[in-house]
Amino acid sequence: MTEFIGLISQKGGVGKSTMARLIAREYAAAKWDVKIADLDTSQGTSTEWKLRREENGLKPEIAVEPFRSVKQALKHASTYDLIVFDGPPHSMAGTVDIAQASKLVVLPTGLSLDDLRPTIRLAHELVENSIDQEKIALALCRVGDRENEIKEARAYIKKAGYTLLQGSIPEKTAYRRASDDGKAVSEVTFLSLKKRAEEVAQDAINLMSREAT
Ligand SMILES: Nc1ncnc2c1ncn2[C@@H]1O[C@H](COP(=O)(O)OP(=O)(O)OP(=O)(O)O)[C@@H](O)[C@H]1O
Ligand SMILES: [Mg+2]
Repeated sequence: MTEFIGLISQKGGVGKSTMARLIAREYAAAKWDVKIADLDTSQGTSTEWKLRREENGLKPEIAVEPFRSVKQALKHASTYDLIVFDGPPHSMAGTVDIAQASKLVVLPTGLSLDDLRPTIRLAHELVENSIDQEKIALALCRVGDRENEIKEARAYIKKAGYTLLQGSIPEKTAYRRASDDGKAVSEVTFLSLKKRAEEVAQDAINLMSREAT
C-alpha cells in the first residue's frame, strides 16, 4: 500500500522542499521506495535537486517527478511505498488536495508572528475544509539559536491546538550547501546538524506510523 505525506504552506521559502527531501531521504534510507511529487512546477526546485543528487552519485536514490496536480500524481503512485508531496506556495486549492490525499501534512514555519500567524490560519482553513486536525503537524524551520524564541513559538502553536514536530531545523549555511550538492539536510557532515534534522524527520515518521484511531 502506498503512503502519502504532504509538505504545505501558503508562504514561499519556509522549508517545504527542504523538509520534503529530508523526509523522503530518511524513508529511502530505511529501504522504502520513495518518490517526491514536485507540485511546484513553476519552480521545480526538487526536480532540479534530484539532478544534482544524481550527478553527485548520492545514495539512496530518491525519485522526483513534477506533477501539475495531486490527481496526476496519484495516477502514478501505486508503484511506490511512499509519495512525498512537495507543495507549491500561494495555492489554496492545491494545498487542500494535498491534505486530503495525505495521511500527514507537515506545515513548516519560521518563528516570527509573520510566519506563525499565516501557518495557524492555514491549519484552521484545512480544518474548515474537513481535514482531520490530527493529521496536521507544524515543523519549526530556519530557526535562530535563541531557545526562548523557540519556546515561545512552541507555546503559541500548542495554544492554537496543533501538533508540532519535535526538534527544529536551524538556519545554517551547511544545510544550504548540502542542498546545493543534492543532499538532504540529514546528509550534512556536521554530526550535531545531522542529528537535529534526523530528530524532526523521525517525529514525522512516528506520526505516520501511528494507528488511525
Ligand atoms: N534550515 C535552513 N538553513 C539554511 N538554508 C535553508 C534552510 N531551509 C531552507 N533553506 C534555503 O532556503 C530556501 C528556501 O527553502 P525551501 O526551498 O525548502 O522552501 P520552500 O518552502 O520549498 O520554498 P518555495 O515556496 O519557494 O517552494 C532554499 O534556498 C533553501 O536551500
Ligand atoms: Mg519549494
